[in-house]
Amino acid sequence: MSLRPLFPETRLRRLRYSKVVRNMVAETALSVDNLVMPLFVCPGKNVQNPIKSMPGNDQLSVDMLVKKCGELLESGVKSVLLFGIPESKDEDGTVATHEHGIVQNAVRAIKETYPEMYIIADICNCEYTTHGHCGTIVDGDVDNDQTLVTLAAQAVSLAQAGVDMVAPSDMMDGRVGYMRKALDENCFEKMPIMAYSAKYASGFYGPFRDAADSAPQFGDRSTYQMDPRNSDEAIREVEMDIAEGADIVMVKPALSYLDVIYRVKNEFNVPVAAYNVSGEFSMVKAAEANNWIDGKRVMMEIMTSIRRAGADIIITYHAKEVADVLNGKI
Ligand code: PBG
Repeated sequence: MSLRPLFPETRLRRLRYSKVVRNMVAETALSVDNLVMPLFVCPGKNVQNPIKSMPGNDQLSVDMLVKKCGELLESGVKSVLLFGIPESKDEDGTVATHEHGIVQNAVRAIKETYPEMYIIADICNCEYTTHGHCGTIVDGDVDNDQTLVTLAAQAVSLAQAGVDMVAPSDMMDGRVGYMRKALDENCFEKMPIMAYSAKYASGFYGPFRDAADSAPQFGDRSTYQMDPRNSDEAIREVEMDIAEGADIVMVKPALSYLDVIYRVKNEFNVPVAAYNVSGEFSMVKAAEANNWIDGKRVMMEIMTSIRRAGADIIITYHAKEVADVLNGKI
């Protein structure tokens, strides 16, 4: 009997021939439980204003937003991240702290119909200031410590309206600690904080600024958001936010910063969220519309890569579609 040559000895393909075994040894799992859907709420009634640069996403009035929450729950998406487009803006974003502000109204309406929906509120001033910056302007730039006051007031007001979690996205120093203290003093010691800890000054936010009408009217955000060249600094930001009481830390954007997600997950024992931002979403949609890529396949590959890098939670405009794919609906 002649032996066949035993080369190569290691054959990694052995575990790839059957789908059953491929699934058996898959290292990364993606579930609807990992997903959070961002939504934009605007004034009016029966308003569904399509966001051109983000196909399938709309600015929704409170009644339509509630309807949308019903559809999301039906698909298995159990959490939303809310952004507000207010009736009017002011110099320091105080409108965002009003009891009957746009997001406060939305929160109460959702909870009335769907108490099971887990509502996260983005905490920032940029949608609420006339100049579009994330805080109060002093001498031509955002003043850190004055901004902490409006941010904390916004968080407390939204807590009173009934949100389940707050997510500060402003990148001021010390905001997590300041907000934690304000929440605790107002008896919201059970309210988790998901901090946008490593949030980069990114071109990928372009479509969002149309959606939320929040583009800065002068300058840019590079005096507060992070420089894309840095990752040691991301570790310092995360370290600082954890020390100040963050329960979940976030890296944003996701795709160009998978290395940062990986580092954060490896260096800290806390849940990590990744924000698959507007520009990342719109690139997929644009390429899909041109038939340059298989949009559904690329979407699932992106979600998997963010999970593989180490994110526990994915905030994504694809959330409903991903859920529908996972449930075999599309
Ligand atoms: C508010 C905020 C932004 C995003 C989330 N929260 C915009 C920005 O910082 O300019 C971006 C989200 C996205 O692009 O999907 N500060």
